[in-house]
Amino acid sequence: LSTVEVDVSSLEPGMSLTVKWRGKPVFIRNRTEAEIDEAKEVPLSDLKDPIARNENLPADAQATDVDRSAGEAKENWIVMIGSCTHLGCIPLGQSGDFGGWFCPCHGSHYDTAGRIRKGPAPQNLAIPLYAFTSDTVIRIG
Ligand code: FES
Repeated sequence: LSTVEVDVSSLEPGMSLTVKWRGKPVFIRNRTEAEIDEAKEVPLSDLKDPIARNENLPADAQATDVDRSAGEAKENWIVMIGSCTHLGCIPLGQSGDFGGWFCPCHGSHYDTAGRIRKGPAPQNLAIPLYAFTSDTVIRIG
C-alpha cells in the first residue's frame, strides 16, 4: 500500500506509536509541552542539519520546531520515518542526550523534534508526506 491511515485518537501527550509504511517504520508522537518548548529553544545555529527534511514543505525549509512538526495548530504532532540517517537502524524513542531518539548502532542522538544533535548521522530524521484527514486520523503517503 502506498498510503496508510492511522487513528491517533488514543495517543495522549507523551505517547507514541509506530506504524509500517512502504516497509519502513514511521514514528508518530504526540509531544508534551515540555518537549515542544525544549525543541523551540534551540537556535538553528546549534543544529548539525539546519534543513527541515519535511516532504510537506519546500526542500529548503529550515529545521525550526514548527516546520518539523505538523504545523502551528498541531505542533504537538511529529511524524517521521524511523530510520537513522546514518546507516538505517531503528532509533529508540525517548532516549539519548536530547530526550528524543537514540540510535544504538553507532550512537546518534536526535532531539525532541527528531533533529540530529550528536553522533555520526548526517541528517534529521526524514518526515514523509502526510496529512490529517480529520482531527484524529493521519494519512501517510
Ligand atoms: Fe544509527 Fe549508525 S545507523 S548511528
